[in-house]
Amino acid sequence: MAEHIDNNKLNDDVRYRFDYFSKFINFTSEDIIALNTLASSVLPLIPVIVDSVYRKLFQYDVTKEYFIINNDKYDGTLTNNENISLESTQMIFRKDMLSGYLKRLLLQREWTNEFLEYLSRIGRMHTNQLGSSSINVEYLHINTTLTYIENLFIENVCSNDNFDNLTKKNILLALNKVFRIQSDLFIIYFLQPSTDHLSTQTIKHKYQKCTCS
Ligand code: HEM
Repeated sequence: MAEHIDNNKLNDDVRYRFDYFSKFINFTSEDIIALNTLASSVLPLIPVIVDSVYRKLFQYDVTKEYFIINNDKYDGTLTNNENISLESTQMIFRKDMLSGYLKRLLLQREWTNEFLEYLSRIGRMHTNQLGSSSINVEYLHINTTLTYIENLFIENVCSNDNFDNLTKKNILLALNKVFRIQSDLFIIYFLQPSTDHLSTQTIKHKYQKCTCS
């Protein structure tokens, strides 16, 4: 018999959603250990990784523009900041925030409710969909950035002589899982939950609309 999953609770309860997601993709304490193992060698490189991420975000106007408007906790003011550079004080502050986040992601030993709330707060603060007054980043940019960060870690693992092949495999699987989990904790705030997820009519309709030859 299929295990019952409460669809409403998935959208209301971050722990419940995470537990379901984890069960589905088999994210376990072994994955957390693999991430902790990666931390032991990659932590000194986090500033380089973060720098590369911000360089990438500054490479395109559609992503850079989010940093031109300074609407953050940095100094509490709303200012236009056309001359912002990667070395501006507020960008250094932001880089530190991302470094802290990545370190925590790798070092965390117990995925407590408090930690899940932290990951979920990161997702929530990037959109104003729920009426929050924070920034409003398009999910497209979240997806590209998460992929970019994950790839930097993957490259590091693959070229890291400290790990044998089995350890590398375990770390790569764990990385993939953790980035999908974080992605879900963004998506939950960007997408409206579907109310017709069980409607075969809707699925049929969408399927019929596909004109692929
Ligand atoms: C996809 C992965 C991303 C992660 C993990 C991430 C992480 C973070 C973190 C940890 C913070 C600080 C949160 C805090 O106040 O505690 C933050 C703030 C911020 N992020 Fe992101 N971010 C991501 C993507 C993006 C993208 C794609 C943009 C824009 C193109 C962006 C723009 C910002 C801005 C403008 C802030 C506010 C900074 C401030 O309040 O000073 N983020 N992000």
